[in-house]
Amino acid sequence: MIRPILVVGNPVLRQKAKRISQVDKPIQRLIDDMIETMRAAPGVGLAAPQVGVPLRLAVIEVDEKVTVLINPEIIKTIGETELDEGCLSVPGFWGQVTRAERVSVKALDRNGKEQRIRDAEGLFAQALQHEIDHLDGKLYIDRVDSAEHLQRSEPLRKPEVEARRRAQEEAEPA
Ligand code: NI
Repeated sequence: MIRPILVVGNPVLRQKAKRISQVDKPIQRLIDDMIETMRAAPGVGLAAPQVGVPLRLAVIEVDEKVTVLINPEIIKTIGETELDEGCLSVPGFWGQVTRAERVSVKALDRNGKEQRIRDAEGLFAQALQHEIDHLDGKLYIDRVDSAEHLQRSEPLRKPEVEARRRAQEEAEPA
């Protein structure tokens, strides 16, 4: 079942989500709904608070691989990188944020078994950090260092951003 996605302004997005003590049937249903909701959006990840459930649960789908994270914790980070980022709960915007280049995460999987994700990189690493932030009531817009780095419109691929910037420069006389 696709669930409605809350947008910025809703207090549930700002709560510290609670740990899940038992991976039971209702949690399994919630996981299925979240995967369906993420795919329908479409998005790369979705955290439970975004569908109004203040529990430490998130789903990510990168390269057609679904990762379910229950009570996730970042246990190691390497490096720093500037990335363009957006969020289903902040529709119509994107911005540049600083993230760790690689992360290792400890969490339970959807069967309640402990899993370790070692040295994730690229979009997967970015999504892990973004979704775990959601569980602490943080949104990427908190990490955007100035309003000029928050852009209106959908996330664009870098070459498209560059092309647009050049076109604007040419259109506006200095
Ligand atoms: Ni988000």
